[in-house]
Amino acid sequence: MTMNDAFDAQRYAVPSSMRSALLEDRDIEDPADRQWLGERLRESVDEGAGILVLTGFDAEPDRLRAVSRRLSRHLGTIMPQDASGTLVRDVTDRGTRIGEGATARYADSRFGGSLHTDGAERAFPLPDYFTLLCVSQADRGGALRVVHVDTVLKQLHDVPDLVSALREPWHFDRRGDQPDGEPPTLRKPVLFEDEHGTGITYLRDYIDIGHRHPGVAPCTTRQRAALDALDAVLSDPANGIAGKLRPGEFAVINNTRVLHGRTTFEDSAGGGRKRLLLRTWIRKNS
Ligand SMILES: [Fe+2]
Repeated sequence: MTMNDAFDAQRYAVPSSMRSALLEDRDIEDPADRQWLGERLRESVDEGAGILVLTGFDAEPDRLRAVSRRLSRHLGTIMPQDASGTLVRDVTDRGTRIGEGATARYADSRFGGSLHTDGAERAFPLPDYFTLLCVSQADRGGALRVVHVDTVLKQLHDVPDLVSALREPWHFDRRGDQPDGEPPTLRKPVLFEDEHGTGITYLRDYIDIGHRHPGVAPCTTRQRAALDALDAVLSDPANGIAGKLRPGEFAVINNTRVLHGRTTFEDSAGGGRKRLLLRTWIRKNS
């Protein structure tokens, strides 16, 4: 497939009763709809490929913000994404580069690569899911790429010492989110175990920056080899699935099992619509 094809993941048109409830900013009340959503989530996100795409939400951006919030609430508890409590965040090109300065984020740039999980700058508990609702796409680029942690473990099977290194604690730069007086990095492993198996939290630039802070030990040769081996797996197109979300498509991604990234994109030069995705972070309800 090429990068401009529709996303090569399980895609489902939402039942019409669910679709109209969400577009009218009402909760999903039909028990059959709720059951349908729960089953899709379990089969495709908790298990399976770790990603689900729901289709059929064609509307204006403000209405889509409400759809994103409503639908995310049915998947769990929405987590604030910054100190000001943002629940639905616009992911769009704000002219920054990933890792630039002390606070710039991947979500604010147009550059691709750097497969990662969201909230890599945060302590546990991490978002269990993150969602993207596509409002508009760039003319060129902007395809989503995802790689499952099971694929990573399989590909690194022959280098167990590097896998062990990934299970040890690293310094992640906190992107300036730390309260006054706290250190600028936090320590956590890249690979970790939870009640369902092995999970991952990763964004290479935040680790590279984290280990360059004064007073933090630089990465050792072994640590660098572990990150390079992980990046080699993540950058090989054969190890993941890719494609472009289309306007009106809502993706739910398992954020502790699946790494994601995009291809570099370019908004149209003529002042037309910019690429805009709406993002939420969700904790599963126990
Ligand atoms: Fe992300």
